Amino acid sequence: IYSIDDEETLSNLEIVVPRDLADGFVNNKRESYKFKFQKIFDQEAKQDVVFDSIAKPVAECVLAGYNGTIFAYGQTGSGKTFTITGGAERYSDRGIIPRTLSYIFDQLQKDSSKVYTTHVSYLEIYNECGYDLLDPRHEASRLEDLPKVTIMEDPDQNIHLKNLSLQQATSEEQALNLLFLGDTNRMIAETPVNQASTRSHCIFTIHISSKEPGSATIRHSKLHLVDLAGSERVAKTGVGGQLLTEAKYINLSLHYLEQ
Ligand SMILES: Nc1ncnc2c1ncn2[C@@H]1O[C@H](COP(=O)(O)OP(=O)(O)OP(=O)(O)O)[C@@H](O)[C@H]1O
Ligand SMILES: [Mg+2]
Repeated sequence: IYSIDDEETLSNLEIVVPRDLADGFVNNKRESYKFKFQKIFDQEAKQDVVFDSIAKPVAECVLAGYNGTIFAYGQTGSGKTFTITGGAERYSDRGIIPRTLSYIFDQLQKDSSKVYTTHVSYLEIYNECGYDLLDPRHEASRLEDLPKVTIMEDPDQNIHLKNLSLQQATSEEQALNLLFLGDTNRMIAETPVNQASTRSHCIFTIHISSKEPGSATIRHSKLHLVDLAGSERVAKTGVGGQLLTEAKYINLSLHYLEQ
């Protein structure tokens, strides 16, 4: 039983878990849990509403030259991949990545005052190792044989990702094709709570550089769209083997992120 109380800049969510009043027991378990959020979407919220209030403002900043990140965090099966990538059945179900690509390419086309170049990259972190989802060798090779993406830091403390390719995308269609290619390479498994659970953290990055004609300055910005793997109470889902190994890596890395 839940209720949402929307205030101007804050939303409150209250969840009520009724006590089990089985005869003969005194049960003082807490019944009401309250959480504060900047914004809460109710269960009926559609993808376009989520895009408009979450992703569009960030995409606008990225077009203005700032870096941005949007990520989905939550329990396995709660709808992260659906929110970030979307559902395959209906066009209206497309998620934040395709909508953002469409929006960004629309805006770039309208602006003739600058020359823009766009690239995308798609990184997967599976069991604590990084892989390039756009590597053409992905389809024919085993994961162990693929080069691992590693993090390097230069003297100016800029982070570089070795072995992660940047693919040029000059149109929405090209960028979408790269997204689909990457998605087919993701690690997916059936678990007790999600028939198509994504078992890795994935970062889809849109790199935009812009240059005004006659100017020597190039402005770079990046938008990271992140679909984290889901946290899981392994004691409750009772998984073993490969699924358990994955769940341990997932929970550990989410723990670091939370810290
Ligand atoms: N808003 C929604 N409307 C309709 N179906 C949804 C919605 N959100 C999620 N689903 C469906 O619920 C199921 C689980 O969602 P999803 O795979 O996105 O979860 P997840 O959070 O990515 O889980 P995991 O961490 O295991 O990858 C999917 O079948 C998805 O299509
Ligand atoms: Mg998922």
